[in-house]
Amino acid sequence: MGLPAGLLDAGYTRLLRPVLFRACGGDPEAIHELMIRVLAGFGSAGPAAALTGLVAGSRGRRTTVAGIDFGSRVGLAAGLDKDATAVLAWRGLGFGFAELGTVTARAQPGNPRPRMFRLRDSKAVINRMGFNNPGAEAVAATLAARNVFRGNGVAGIPIGISIGKTKLVELADAVSDYLSSYRLLAPHADYVAVNVSSPNTPGLRSLQDGGALADLLGALVSEAATMAAESHPSVPERGPGRCGPMPIFVKVAPDLTWAQLDEVLATCADHGAAGLIATNTTLARDGLAASDQTRAAEAGGLSGAPLTRRAREVVGYVCEHTDLPVMGVGGVITAADAMALFDAGASLVQLYTGFIYGGPGLPAAVNALDVERQGS
Ligand code: FNR
Repeated sequence: MGLPAGLLDAGYTRLLRPVLFRACGGDPEAIHELMIRVLAGFGSAGPAAALTGLVAGSRGRRTTVAGIDFGSRVGLAAGLDKDATAVLAWRGLGFGFAELGTVTARAQPGNPRPRMFRLRDSKAVINRMGFNNPGAEAVAATLAARNVFRGNGVAGIPIGISIGKTKLVELADAVSDYLSSYRLLAPHADYVAVNVSSPNTPGLRSLQDGGALADLLGALVSEAATMAAESHPSVPERGPGRCGPMPIFVKVAPDLTWAQLDEVLATCADHGAAGLIATNTTLARDGLAASDQTRAAEAGGLSGAPLTRRAREVVGYVCEHTDLPVMGVGGVITAADAMALFDAGASLVQLYTGFIYGGPGLPAAVNALDVERQGS
């Protein structure tokens, strides 16, 4: 049995968060890296497992989406575990699934530091990381070393992997670049997320345009069918063929107009997407506290509380205009925010910034409220 969400929340926000926010000279990325290194040590054995057991008692509402069985409806959003090293820790921290990455075909350093900024009074973050990651081959090796393969349940929760475009690759060659990542990573994922909505890779968001998205999605869906049809030679018993074609989700920006979203939804429906993830970070700077106005000038995508309202609006619009399942993400700071995304039609929710400000008490609280509402 895990600790109650309220106790976890108080322990994190009153004790741990003040230490974390001051550690490493207050550099958010440095403390992030340190925490990921600690979590990467969490596995299925030893004292770390006992620690994660504090939260593991928090179980949520079970659901099936795109043929995947989810033990709870709240997941970790992409960007927090970019290298997949902490893959075995997320279940123990209360998450019902985790989306790893974004991973690109080639290793790349991302943008110069500093590139991640806390806007504390706004419960927000601005980032312009630029897909820093060790590349698809290295991430596949990390997951193979932990025996994480599609459908084998080793992580204890479904695993999504987000793929994006290598910065140095021309937009015209994006399809083959995504395909390289896809082939390497699909054997380790229960679903793949196609990231065409990060604001931090020049031109990436243009891949949301109808023709470009049709080409990209069509190629990935067809590759998924091919890989499902043949048994995967590198992992004979555990390859993607075991469970049918890989579900492919498309992640969209909150800054699209309704007309642009209509085009994305039509393309997703016509080219075999399994669902949508809405939304990525925003380029808007609305809803910030006065004390954060200086930081607001930093370039990059804004996440957290200022995104809550827009993400809910976009999720509502998407759910009204497609039959595909939707993962809602953006500005989930409280359990009630997650419920609002469910009420808007989302089948699952994800969070990132809320975890920075709320710690493991937040997914636990989402799970508790989700179960409570199911019973009422
Ligand atoms: C992100 N996000 C993100 N999304 C994605 O698809 N791939 C990525 O690599 C990243 N990287 C990333 C880094 C940092 C520092 C942040 C804060 C966010 C976006 C994230 O997954 C999510 O869509 C938004 O942050 C909105 O959700 P929250 O943070 O408001 O819960």
